Amino acid sequence: MTRKILVTSALPYANGAIHLGHLVEYIQTDIWTRFQKMRGHECWFVCADDTHGTPIMLRAEKEGLTPEQLIARVHAEHSRDFAGFHVAFDNYYTTHSDETRHYSEDIYGKLKAAGLIEVRSIEQYYDPAKQMFLPDRFIKGECPKCGAKDQYGDACESCGAAYAPTELKNPYSAVSGAQPVLKSSDHYFFKLSDPRCQEYLRHATREVCKAQPEAINKLQEWLGEPGENKLTDWDISRDAPYFGFEIPGAPGKFFYVWLDAPIGYMGSFKNFCTKKGLDFDAFWGKGSAAELYHFIGKDILYFHALFWPAELEHAGYRTPTSVFAHGFLTVDGAKMSKSRGTFITAESYLTQGLNPEWLRYYFAAKLNGTMEDIDLNLDDFVSRVNSDLIGKYINIASRAAGFIAKRFGGTLLHAHLNERFHADLPGIADAAEEIAGHYEARDTARALRRVMALADQVNQYVDKHQPWALAKQEGQEARLHEVCSVLINAFRLLTIYLKPVLPKLAQRAEEFLNVAPLHWADAGHLLPPAHLINTYEHLMQRIDPKQIEALIAANRESLAPVTVAITVSPAPTVADQHSPQRHAQHQQATEDKMQTQTDQPHISIDDFGKIDLRIARIADAQHVEGADKLIRLTLDLGADGTRNVFAGIKSAYDPAQLVGRLTVMVANLAPRKMKFGLSEGMVLAASDSDGKSPGLFLLSPDSGAQPGMRVK
Ligand code: 2FM
Ligand code: ZN
Repeated sequence: MTRKILVTSALPYANGAIHLGHLVEYIQTDIWTRFQKMRGHECWFVCADDTHGTPIMLRAEKEGLTPEQLIARVHAEHSRDFAGFHVAFDNYYTTHSDETRHYSEDIYGKLKAAGLIEVRSIEQYYDPAKQMFLPDRFIKGECPKCGAKDQYGDACESCGAAYAPTELKNPYSAVSGAQPVLKSSDHYFFKLSDPRCQEYLRHATREVCKAQPEAINKLQEWLGEPGENKLTDWDISRDAPYFGFEIPGAPGKFFYVWLDAPIGYMGSFKNFCTKKGLDFDAFWGKGSAAELYHFIGKDILYFHALFWPAELEHAGYRTPTSVFAHGFLTVDGAKMSKSRGTFITAESYLTQGLNPEWLRYYFAAKLNGTMEDIDLNLDDFVSRVNSDLIGKYINIASRAAGFIAKRFGGTLLHAHLNERFHADLPGIADAAEEIAGHYEARDTARALRRVMALADQVNQYVDKHQPWALAKQEGQEARLHEVCSVLINAFRLLTIYLKPVLPKLAQRAEEFLNVAPLHWADAGHLLPPAHLINTYEHLMQRIDPKQIEALIAANRESLAPVTVAITVSPAPTVADQHSPQRHAQHQQATEDKMQTQTDQPHISIDDFGKIDLRIARIADAQHVEGADKLIRLTLDLGADGTRNVFAGIKSAYDPAQLVGRLTVMVANLAPRKMKFGLSEGMVLAASDSDGKSPGLFLLSPDSGAQPGMRVK
């Protein structure tokens, strides 16, 4: 029976590069959908960039782009990276689309009509300098529990405490540096606590998570015991300024991520249906017989297992058949880190010339369908790929192909090949359904273990019959032909089993075997007698450990060196608004970026003492007419009055962003007369040695510093 299956991966934010952590999910989903297609099912894989939100808006502003320009650029980068890893979406779209807007408005309207939307006034931190409400991740301050400085508004990365931003001590805006004020505003809520949602979720979400017992446990924890009402209503709106969809009938209010991003799954599929002439309702309509699966990271399980099904159910759409959550990626047992060079982007992996199928194979060999974290152990990566793929699988073809070409004109055995094969290598063809079962259950680790056990069996056959020895013996021509024909057939079967994981390698193997693209059902028969194969060309290189060293060095190198030994606040471009883990990786990366090195000759402490460094508050910042690079800063030095400074920081900062923040200035620099006026000092900023890339980072003191204080 042909199944109708729609599959999604989580939509990546449109403000950051795809890295190996992301790829775990896209590769896992791609393997699964390729497998379903090979089985002959109607299976579609859609995704999109998650383009809306404050971080993207601010990032665009910082880069001097419109949000539309930024998301167009990132869309091209993401598409390139996914294609580079053979992640074959049927449609890779954007949430900034008419289709997504349509379904967001439609779902919202239906939830509203059902009485599941409520408006409430809430108090939130507001940045008076930037004139915007601040997402939790854009408020920093001291942890209320352990006192660690510069912690985000929702959780402390030092002690792990979770809290509300209002609990932070000495809060400041990560956007402008200004002290935030509490301000109230109307927000729209989806009433997840409504008895209808509770009741629905109690019976339905078990079904949605049935594939993963550990997910069911989580749900149990979130839902509580029958009678308990632990679910809280979800804030689905944000105030202007915001890059997103304005809520109909609510001027200045915008749909927040969970009433927008997952709806991007529908938007992308609708766009695909229009292009392909498919029936959208056959997949999304209530009572649809199609299957719908969302592959996600475990950090967004709550939203996909509770919020999303409840939203769909009460808006009259079908709900997901299942969500499949995976764990996080570690590299050599630790969080990805830029200082160690293990925060590896998809782009750098590819530009360093590493084969994407090595990584696909390694991830697949680790993924078992659970929410456990997976580790990319770099030594194990090299040895596993080399021994499994080259040593075991490719070896089979390379042992047999030359003899078939040279001694038998490229043709396989003319008769009795079937009998020979099943007598010599029993079980290879019969394993097809068992392996399919492992793929279906997303236990690719098990599928690949089984395939490699079969490859071992074939290699034992090679060792036993030693085609190279047969080739030298008189009268063994027929036996050599038999053995090599058996091996080519074994190689073909293993190619079928590996094809979801290694699509490009399989394609090259198909060319060598001179066969049409292989489907799973092809495992039910062998190559026909006297089949002609093509000349063998080596199918895959071994990994040279030096390539891994170079990859790590490249990911480390790209961040060093900067010329001044400093630490600066991370740029206000968080990777993620909801996921502390993803965010933590980003944060770590930003901080690692600040690792410094200096190779200047020594100076004496007295030399250093001659420089009068002071904390300054940027009281005002203005564009300078006719100057490409300069911003005019009015610096407040407390008791020492104000100074006028022209700073060459326009490429990196918008004047409005600077007002209110603290920085460090050289206060005793001889005043300099410039075309635009007198410059009375200099502000300190870090930059790359060439002063151009990756940007310019103005120094900020730790919170508590006051204008006029000396920096020593
Ligand atoms: O958590 C995230 O990465 C968000 N971009 C949401 C992805 S899932 C979805 F629903 F779009
Ligand atoms: Zn803390």
